[in-house]
Amino acid sequence: MLPSKPRTVLRSVARHVSSPSIHARPRPALPPIPIALSPVFSRPNVEALHAFQCNRLFSSSSRASSATVDKVLGVAAALKAQEDDAFQVKPEIFDEFSLKGRIGVVSGGNGGLGLEMAVALCEAGAKIHALDLPDQPSSDFHACMAYVDKLKNGSSLTYHPTDVTDQSRISSLVIDRIAREEGRLDLCVAAAGILGPAEGESCLKYSKKDWERVMKVNLDGVFYTCQAAARGMVETGCKAGSIVMIASMSGSITNKDQPWVAYNTSKSGVLQMARSMACELGKENIRVNTISPGHIYTKMTAALLDVHPETGDLWSNSNPLGRLGQVHELRGVVTWLASDASSFCTGSDILVSGGHHSW
Ligand SMILES: NC(=O)c1ccc[n+]([C@@H]2O[C@H](COP(=O)([O-])OP(=O)(O)OC[C@H]3O[C@@H](n4cnc5c(N)ncnc54)[C@H](O)[C@@H]3O)[C@@H](O)[C@H]2O)c1
Repeated sequence: MLPSKPRTVLRSVARHVSSPSIHARPRPALPPIPIALSPVFSRPNVEALHAFQCNRLFSSSSRASSATVDKVLGVAAALKAQEDDAFQVKPEIFDEFSLKGRIGVVSGGNGGLGLEMAVALCEAGAKIHALDLPDQPSSDFHACMAYVDKLKNGSSLTYHPTDVTDQSRISSLVIDRIAREEGRLDLCVAAAGILGPAEGESCLKYSKKDWERVMKVNLDGVFYTCQAAARGMVETGCKAGSIVMIASMSGSITNKDQPWVAYNTSKSGVLQMARSMACELGKENIRVNTISPGHIYTKMTAALLDVHPETGDLWSNSNPLGRLGQVHELRGVVTWLASDASSFCTGSDILVSGGHHSW
């Protein structure tokens, strides 16, 4: 039966869910109470609903809440404003995406998707440390550093040469030089990756070395980067950590007529790595998700598309939008996943493929 006064119930629950003071105190272990309906008024027993919600919001093993859980947002804000004239009303939705004061690392940040994502996170207010192979960053990176300086929003973009396949090097860089020196670490985007073994090479011909090269960068490197970031987050007491691995739609589908067994296998591995890390790290307040892009024009794909324009036509015609994606079309999704706007999203893969996977 529907409650006759749904609003009363909603307000009561919303007040409970969003009150900062409730989460500041240790949560009492309440016994589960069934939602009882009053026989006289056919109305839910509000106290019982309250207790039920309280019991369900956090498991007994969870340590703390994310920043967004503690805020009065949306409907709860509307209800609070209705009963409290002093409550200041303002649009909150874009603030939920804010990364002001957050510190992040982005691997593969010298160009392509990594650099684009680093700039997006800086625009949202974060200080980003980009990691990549060359000793000196690219001219695009220098232009982006100057651009971020001009934003004057407290963000910064810094470059560190490193090889993500070197576990001890990446761990000392991320933990000792970035997390400890900054005093915190909140974000990690693992975008470093390679396509391989070699263009057009059949899996019948792969050597051990070819196979291992792809796995070393796309799997080992992603793991070492995210492991170091997670350790840095735990060590510095991060309250709302977010790790985003850049997988690929090729981890879930096989690109028609592309002999990419090694690459596709490595990206499937990234999807499972993220799901499993998400399950282990939830109790540390760290969320782990993947973004699976479709075909985007970057240095990686240009190596193929510039030589074989017909492949570009084939890829464009393989999605409902009828075109390749552009690097900036991943700005929103990475900022959403990095920020509190996605605070209940973990262990998820977000496909951004122009609908390629739908056909
Ligand atoms: N472009 C696409 O269509 C597409 C689609 C799906 C997924 N992806 C994935 O997105 C990520 C970024 O790719 P991109 O298209 O921007 O390619 P890109 O080649 O432009 O960028 C990849 C970056 O990773 C860096 N890198 C490679 N090996 C490294 C190592 N050992 N240590 C540190 N850095 C290393 C490269 O130097 C480069 O800057 C990759 O993981 C790729 O698999 C790309």
